[in-house]
Amino acid sequence: GRVAVLMGGTSSEREVSLDSGRNVLEALRSRGVDAFAVDGIPALIDAIRHGGVDRVFNILHGNKGGGEDGVLQGLLEALGVPYTGSNVLGSSLSMDKIRTKQVWLSLGLPTPRYVRLSKGDDVHEAARELGLPVILKPSCEGSSVGVSRVFDDAGLDAAMDLAARYPGEMLMEQMIVGDELTVGVLGDGAMHHALPSIRIVPKGEWYDYNAKYIAEDTQYLCPGLSGQDETEIRQVALEAFVAAGCRGWGRVDVMRDRSTGRFFLLEVNTAPGMTSHSLVPKAARQVGVSFEELCWRILEQTVL
Ligand code: DAL
Ligand code: MG
Repeated sequence: GRVAVLMGGTSSEREVSLDSGRNVLEALRSRGVDAFAVDGIPALIDAIRHGGVDRVFNILHGNKGGGEDGVLQGLLEALGVPYTGSNVLGSSLSMDKIRTKQVWLSLGLPTPRYVRLSKGDDVHEAARELGLPVILKPSCEGSSVGVSRVFDDAGLDAAMDLAARYPGEMLMEQMIVGDELTVGVLGDGAMHHALPSIRIVPKGEWYDYNAKYIAEDTQYLCPGLSGQDETEIRQVALEAFVAAGCRGWGRVDVMRDRSTGRFFLLEVNTAPGMTSHSLVPKAARQVGVSFEELCWRILEQTVL
């Protein structure tokens, strides 16, 4: 059947999604799939109306535009069109970093201490509660858009102003000083398994938008850890993925405290990047799964 590769959209991650989408489209076609590109949800609705869509490979990133936050998933459920990735619950929960943390905490899964903030809340009070340094971010964005690292009181207001440009609530998190790691998760029938972790070593201070997509000097180590540590991070990431109600594929971002070696879960990405800089394709390659094969496996997971 015909596969719509849904990309672009209207979120802050539109450009990233177009890049991911073109790669997925090319990979599926090279496997003989009858795939075509669709930019954004309104265009997808048109294509479905004209009877030309048997499945959707969703590679929309982000919140506004509905691609990664459950809105699209609900629409496709209602229309009876199968799609890749997490369902309504897993998508909408994972798009909201605050609620994701609440679920993890209720299960005893480790995540940095945090304060939930709305526009107008006292950012200085929140920072006193957590202790500096902190990370301030919109609760529902991706690719580090709107994120600041704050080391002193003087930086708090600007960080809040930046985060408040995006819709919804904000999240202030205790900053974990240590390694930035990520774990891809791939479905296999009813089971899911974790790919090898990746340790990210940005040339600058942290893995921001520039280090993610523009800089060519970000280093990626895969597997990111060894021995028991690697076993442990895969296990906690898989538990976090399942706890958030996710399915199909995704990527769990994790910090490892430099002094204690402890892991802290940050978030789940339910439609992670598939650009040439992106992480899930690197982890798949480490276990002998090519980009084309990865796209094929994600498509195979489609259920409805
Ligand atoms: N939000 C970006 C696309 C990622 O997680 O890879
Ligand atoms: Mg993200």
